[in-house]
Amino acid sequence: MARIGIIGALDDEIAIYLAKMKTASRFKVAGFDFHTGKLEGKSVVIAKCGVGKVNASSCAQAMIDGFSVSCVIVTGVAGALHPLLDTNHIVISQTSIQHDLDGQGLGFDRGQVPFSDKKVFRASEHLVKIASSKARQMGLKSMEGTVLSGDQFISDAETRKRLRADFGGDCVDMESAAVAHICDANGIPHIIIRSISDKADASALEDFNASCKIAAANSAKLVELIVCDLDGHDAKPAPHNLKSAIRTVPHWPKQGVMFRDVTILLKDKRSFKCAIDLLADRYMDYQLDSVAGIEARGFIFGAALAHRLGIGFIPIRKAGKLPSNTISEEYSLEYGKEKMEIHSDALSKGDNILLVDDLLATGGTALGACRLISRLGGNVVECCFVICLPELGGKKKLQEAKYDVFYLMEFEGE
Ligand code: ADE
Repeated sequence: MARIGIIGALDDEIAIYLAKMKTASRFKVAGFDFHTGKLEGKSVVIAKCGVGKVNASSCAQAMIDGFSVSCVIVTGVAGALHPLLDTNHIVISQTSIQHDLDGQGLGFDRGQVPFSDKKVFRASEHLVKIASSKARQMGLKSMEGTVLSGDQFISDAETRKRLRADFGGDCVDMESAAVAHICDANGIPHIIIRSISDKADASALEDFNASCKIAAANSAKLVELIVCDLDGHDAKPAPHNLKSAIRTVPHWPKQGVMFRDVTILLKDKRSFKCAIDLLADRYMDYQLDSVAGIEARGFIFGAALAHRLGIGFIPIRKAGKLPSNTISEEYSLEYGKEKMEIHSDALSKGDNILLVDDLLATGGTALGACRLISRLGGNVVECCFVICLPELGGKKKLQEAKYDVFYLMEFEGE
């Protein structure tokens, strides 16, 4: 389950969401505070990016990199360029342009990103449709149009006129098109919902100060209704077929065994990313303290997942490999018993731990690892695998011992 991302530039533009959000957590990344939680029952991440295109784009990229967003909604206020727009009217972006990007001297159009074909950033049609229908239902005065963004607060009639004439802009702000640019570069759908605070003319500052709070609340009202209609996967590219990235090696390591080999999945950047994305989507709201991985392939998936979740990693290793004080558990293998170990100081009492391995077969190793974590006072929140072979009984064994089990795919047989 992915999150819906919401970005506003000012405190006033995100305050309403934060006040309404349930079970909120805060993470600081790249200097921005990201608030995660539920809004209208949906998983969201909300950030104040600050003013200007550099702030907006770095915040959008950090949000996309770290918070698994299915789409980004820009919320807040703008100056009107269209003559029919008045205070508190809403502009729903069809397109946005960076009006201050000027490569004319290099032979490019104003607004065009030089040496690229990018100029007009198109919002998600799906999101625009929802926004317009919700605005109609609410009886809001709204229009679909073009949002211009630049690193200037526009407060004179001449510039206002020029922006309207040159770009056909309907409203102007200082962030939206930069977020749209970043979303475009990452293949993430976006929409901009701006409510008018001023007319970008000589009275702009005075009007902005008088209207910002109310106009921001107006934008938030519409965004909340849009969020109601979205689920975490809205407009997200279809998940890559991960199962096809597992290689089956017959009769290895012995006759009769169909060995499910994850090395092809790991080698393929799309498959590896997809596997970690799916796990990160699942666990991002679990309030985990650490991921524990079982040697050896559990280290690969576990460490990548821990990094994505912004938490630490605990290795559970074969006996004799860990350098400091350990506790150990025996587990059964086909021909006798083996020992696994964890550092005695690997976790603190009450820590929420996710156990990760590549494959669940008979469950002997996973159960031993769960016991190690439990003996140190940790809470095994779930046992997570890329592959499960249900016929080998590991899933049942773990569940009977009261451990929850999750995996991305299963295969028949041994
Ligand atoms: N945001 C709100 N009003 C604005 C204006 N007049 N210029 C730029 N950004 C704005």
